[in-house]
Amino acid sequence: MSNHHGPNPSRRTFLQTAGSLVAATALPDFRIPSVFAGGSDLIQVALVGCGGRGGGAAANALSTKGGPVKLVAMADVFADRLNGCYDNLSKSGQADLVDVPEDRRFLGFDGYRRAMDCLKPGDVVILTTPPAFRWVHFQYAISKKLNVFMEKPVTVDGPSSRRMLKLADEAAAANLKVGVGLMSRHARWLQELQKRIQDGEIGDVVLMRGYRMHGPAASFESPPKPDGISHLEYQIRRFHSFLWASGGCYNDFYIHHIDHLCWMKNAWPVSAQGVGGRHYRQTPEGVPFVDQNFDNYAVEYTFDDGSKFFFEGRCVDGAKGIYSSYVHGTKGMAIAAKSGDCNGPSSTYRGQRPVPENLIWQSTDRGNPYQNEWDVLMDAIRNDKPFNEVKRGVETSVVSSMGRMAAHTGQEVTYDMMLNCEHEFAPTVDKLSYESDAPLMPGPDGRYPVPRPGLNPNTEY
Ligand SMILES: NC(=O)c1ccc[n+]([C@@H]2O[C@H](COP(=O)([O-])OP(=O)(O)OC[C@H]3O[C@@H](n4cnc5c(N)ncnc54)[C@H](O)[C@@H]3O)[C@@H](O)[C@H]2O)c1
Repeated sequence: MSNHHGPNPSRRTFLQTAGSLVAATALPDFRIPSVFAGGSDLIQVALVGCGGRGGGAAANALSTKGGPVKLVAMADVFADRLNGCYDNLSKSGQADLVDVPEDRRFLGFDGYRRAMDCLKPGDVVILTTPPAFRWVHFQYAISKKLNVFMEKPVTVDGPSSRRMLKLADEAAAANLKVGVGLMSRHARWLQELQKRIQDGEIGDVVLMRGYRMHGPAASFESPPKPDGISHLEYQIRRFHSFLWASGGCYNDFYIHHIDHLCWMKNAWPVSAQGVGGRHYRQTPEGVPFVDQNFDNYAVEYTFDDGSKFFFEGRCVDGAKGIYSSYVHGTKGMAIAAKSGDCNGPSSTYRGQRPVPENLIWQSTDRGNPYQNEWDVLMDAIRNDKPFNEVKRGVETSVVSSMGRMAAHTGQEVTYDMMLNCEHEFAPTVDKLSYESDAPLMPGPDGRYPVPRPGLNPNTEY
């Protein structure tokens, strides 16, 4: 990483609002406070990655009904994120279930270890950092015999996917229960739709379509890094912009439709080819964007039986917004996600026109899939039921990566090529510290490398 010209990144920028939070890396002789279960059926929870979804997942965990639950430890690399999340949870209606004193709030790239060290075997850790860190944190959770809830995507490239498949087996062998935040699978309307499709209600599935098209969202696009923070901090804070951290907007945003449509078909596609590009590489004022995303993607997935799944994604203001998914069979069609990642109602129709007179069935359930996925995980833990969603989470992540790579390279990419691809985006992700260079550093022009379809046929950048 010799092309790093900026000031040496400092822990100070990460820790500046830390207050008296425990900075794990600063205290090598730090003793882990013991946390003892208040009763044999108490499940303690630790949260690693205290952002938007982390706070939501913790709230879902604390809302489960099967027995006592407490949040006892939190970890993040940014003090502002950890403090904000703690404040929200401790001021919520669940405040009495939040028992995270300052000495169980951990900052640092090894904070995840300190947080998990507060748990006992059989407790649960929530992994809601950007996905680049998933395998590192999962590996430690398995060594501590912890049950896990981890957010999607679970991998972003071939090497981390292969590693996660091995870890999935290790977790299963250790009888650990692991949920993955692909919540479509826990939406009751999609569960019923999947059964109806598999029972033949719309005939054989020959075509599926998924669309997520809206304006720029989250950290889809990024202006140049400001002074005063390191490349690593910048990229982690804006992880949707950088392939090593998130798999880019393709993996992060589009994985839900990819996941639930492949589930409707009950198969994974064997190959993908696609197009994509970036029309807008600067703001109207001329400020360049330095992220690695295309602003539009159109990917054609092919299944072993020759049937197709087309996915279209776009982050462009002013263009038509479509955010829904569809399944077409030889006898009829279905609306899977009526809107958003997996919102109902789902419905089935005779023929290919989704009009009221053709309606066969429409779902009525209005439950919350984010809560359902936690209810299932906690039930599996409390009643020792087999539950491990990691393998499927990896497979969905690989299918996402293969579509992304097809568009980024301009080549046809098969599932096996993607899984066995040797390009590891962040080979040092388990060794990062506040002082590290980022896994992606800018060139002499100050820009990060971007995909160049056709010119770079074998790697995405
Ligand atoms: N299932 C869903 O619908 C859904 C919705 C939103 C996000 N997500 C997923 O959840 C994950 C987090 O997304 P988010 O929107 O909450 O992002 P976020 O930026 O709000 O939260 C991520 C948090 O992780 C922290 N972090 C980063 N690296 C860390 C590390 N090495 N150790 C500890 N903490 C670290 C960040 O500081 C931040 O607080 C992503 O994988 C995203 O795809 C899923």
